[in-house]
Parts: sequence; structure tokens; C-alpha cells
Amino acid sequence: MFTKTLPQNLSQNLSQNSHHYDLFAAVETLKSELNAVILAHYYQEPDIQDIADFIGDSLALSQKAATTNADVIVFAGVHFMAETAKILNPDKLVLLPDLNAGCSLADSCPPQEFAAFKAAHPNHLVVSYINCSAEIKAMSDIICTSSNAVKIVNQIPEDQGIIFAPDRNLGRYVMEQTGRDLVLWQGSCIVHETFSEKKIVQLKIEHPEAEIVAHPECEASILRHANYIGSTTALLKYCQQSQRDYFIVATEPGIIHQMEKEAPEKEFIPAPPVNNCACNECPHMRLNTLEKLYLAMKSCQPEIVIPEEIRLAALVPIQRMLELS
Ligand code: 13P
Ligand code: SF4
Repeated sequence: MFTKTLPQNLSQNLSQNSHHYDLFAAVETLKSELNAVILAHYYQEPDIQDIADFIGDSLALSQKAATTNADVIVFAGVHFMAETAKILNPDKLVLLPDLNAGCSLADSCPPQEFAAFKAAHPNHLVVSYINCSAEIKAMSDIICTSSNAVKIVNQIPEDQGIIFAPDRNLGRYVMEQTGRDLVLWQGSCIVHETFSEKKIVQLKIEHPEAEIVAHPECEASILRHANYIGSTTALLKYCQQSQRDYFIVATEPGIIHQMEKEAPEKEFIPAPPVNNCACNECPHMRLNTLEKLYLAMKSCQPEIVIPEEIRLAALVPIQRMLELS
């Protein structure tokens, strides 16, 4: 078992005599004391992925949250994901290790502006990507994720106008796949807009045997080079099953931890960002750490709280998604 060294002030709180503490064991103990389940997204740091009871894409995490028997859900992901778990489980305690773990895409769709946008397109059905706030969900007819967006739009009658929010890149991809004309909210994700087409093409020239896999939140200039496009879970499965041994991965590089675990003989190269920075790492997802996860479980906070009126309105389109998936 992995032994983690705590920051000094924290370890002093935990034990006067010891400088090391087995955080993994401490989290396991709290898990059984609280009857908690730890749900984690693939973009979380490796330690968190390794301690999680379940790792998945947004859809799988929502499905898991909808069916868990645990009393406490520790959500190692970003705010909209933990919020979705709370919407589905009003009587459970839902903890997010760092309450500031937001999402640039969710932030790109403020409720007031979206209400005006919706009013400007009467008689349109609102399909919202799960990467949005509870307020936006409450204004939506159906929620979708990157793994079921095409399937859900395909189930809507062809003569029905549709607003798709908030991700313009996923929206454009769904338009291409379904042949439908969607009214797009112009939001985007800072991480998935950072990849450099030039550097990806250069990598492909250096490694012609490599396959490029990409998340549909990427821009069209990146997606057009992709051998495969899909949600995080779909990308993971594709790389496992492909005959190839070398992959250029155009999504948040946290997922490479699982890719390497599931296919240790293969090589995974993170798609490079435009600048020489680490801006392909999601700054929100990475706010969660194993230490914060431990502290959240120890103190039973920060907890997700949602006004009941918004929760009830947001629940309807989430349940529709779960039925249509
Ligand atoms: P999925 O895990 O559903 O593919 O979504 C990725 C994402 O953007 C999470 O922020
Ligand atoms: Fe939001 Fe992008 Fe981070 Fe996903 S990767 S949580 S869409 S900012």
C-alpha cells in the first residue's frame, strides 16, 4: 500500500509523534465509519483515482450516484458533478474535497444570460451538457453528457428546434453526427481549447504509427485529426481494445493514469498545449488532493447544498437523461 507523507502542519494535527501517516488507510477507515463511497473522475490526481471505489466519466458517475446505498458520497471531481449527485440524493451527505473546484465551461453559462437566450428562442427544447450549474439544469429539458449527447439528440423529433448548451464544441460535434441544426450557446472549456494542432501534427509525423484520440470538447481543428472521438470512458476503452501501441491523447492528461494501468504495454502521449505550460491540466479538477479528501471525510465538509426548488427542477432533466441513456 502506498504511504503518503502529509504536510507538516497537517501531520501534527493527526499525530504528535509521527511525521508519516498512511493516508490511504485513514481514508479507508473513515469510509467504513461513514458508510461512504468515493466516486472519482479520470481527471483526478493518481492517488485519488487509486483510492476511489469507482472511477468513471460523467454519465457513469451520475448512474453510480443514482444507485448507491452509501450514506455519504465523497465526490472527487468538480462542483457540477457533486451537485448532480446531490440532486439525485437529497438525503445523502455529498462532500466535495475542495468547494472551489468549479468548471470554466459551467462558468461560461451564467443563469441570467441563459434565461434571456432561452426566451429569444421560444418553442425550442433545451438540451444541456451536464457541465453546467444546477440553475442551468433547472432551465433545461434534457441533460446529456459527452457519451450520450448524439444518442439523446437522435431521439428528439426532427422538426423540434433544439438549444444546445453550454459547450459549442460538443454542440458542433453533435450537429455533425446527427445532421441536426442546433442553436448553440457559445461556451467552451479552457482545457480542451488549449491543444495545439501544429504540435499534434508534428507528433504524428514523428510517430506515424500513433493513433490520435480526442474528447469532443476539443475544437474542430483538433477533432479532424482524431482517429477516435469519445467521452473519457470511451477513450479509455478504445485505447485498450485498439491493435495499436501508441496514442496521442487530446483530453486532460489525468486519464493517462488509468490508460497506463489498464494497458501497461502501451504508450500514451498527452497532446501538447499551444504554450509550453501545464494548461492541459484542469486547474479545477486538480484543486482536489488526497489530503483534502481525507479532511473532507474527517470533518464531513465541505458539503454540497442546493435550494430545494432548484434541485427539484434540475432533477427532471437529469432523470430524463438517465432514462434515455
Ligand atoms: P466525460 O468524463 O463525461 O467525458 O467529461 C469530461 C469532462 O469534461 C469533465 O469535465
Ligand atoms: Fe470543466 Fe474543462 Fe475542467 Fe472538464 S476539463 S471540469 S469541462 S474546465
